[in-house]
Amino acid sequence: MPIASAHQPVQLLDTDTTPKAGPLLVDGTISFAVRASFTKSGQKKAFRAALKEGDQLAVQYLIVDKKPESALKNTQLPQLVITSPTGKKITIKINERSPFYEPYGGTNYFYLARYSAPAEAGIYQFLVTSRAKAGITIAVGEKEIRGEVLRGPAPLSTPTPTASPAAAKPTPEPSASSTPKAEATTQSGYTMANVRANNSESSCWSVIGGNVYNLTQWINSHPGGASRIRALCGTDGTSSFSAQHGSRGSPTSTLANYLLGPLAK
Ligand code: HEM
Repeated sequence: MPIASAHQPVQLLDTDTTPKAGPLLVDGTISFAVRASFTKSGQKKAFRAALKEGDQLAVQYLIVDKKPESALKNTQLPQLVITSPTGKKITIKINERSPFYEPYGGTNYFYLARYSAPAEAGIYQFLVTSRAKAGITIAVGEKEIRGEVLRGPAPLSTPTPTASPAAAKPTPEPSASSTPKAEATTQSGYTMANVRANNSESSCWSVIGGNVYNLTQWINSHPGGASRIRALCGTDGTSSFSAQHGSRGSPTSTLANYLLGPLAK
């Protein structure tokens, strides 16, 4: 459930514990909805966003109107600290709880904080630290067009033959040859070729209901057994998933944690 049709969802993974390990939003003025979910206090998730001279850094901190996060006090919600390219630290202060109905996903959100300021040129680092079990959404950017997300060094995908290598700038850690999944999110979204390339236990992507999911971390957590998920890696798992789970709440909401984005049409 994206914040709005144009806010591309980006799910932070359990391995995105530092800004460098996390994804890079190549143009921080394009709207992204970055989701971070935590199972307990003291966990960290992070990402980066690149901005240019003259850009505006626009950040909103949101939660869905559901428990556990909606029941938490401000001091129990995850803390967001942004570090500017020159090292200036901005601690986002939770100072509102304004309801916001997002019609595309039919979801009730609360705005908890909004920050907007002229940007420095360079890479901003976003670090979220949990203080309890909670999931939050950080909306970055306001331009309603598709943007690029680079991930490195995790070998999450192989670029499609049609993907332009020029799209892989700026280069994520450790090198351009780490085949970020960046190409997957340019213009067209994730392709079936991207999904087929991630067909193993070490990098397991699957399509379910027209969305692409990275199920790698779910394989060994699935109550119905790892083999069930392994069988979906690199494939369109829609029919297996719906045959087993239909649209029941728990599997569907678990799935949402692993969303990468829509499958290209
Ligand atoms: C990829 C996405 C999947 C997710 C996110 C997922 C999620 C879950 C969750 C959360 C449960 C816990 C029980 C519940 O709340 O209903 C569960 C149980 C189960 N899942 Fe899945 N599942 C997925 C795919 C599959 C597939 C493809 C199969 C079979 C072909 C399967 C077979 C089962 C079985 C048999 C159980 C029951 C285990 C038990 O009762 O102990 N799941 N799954």
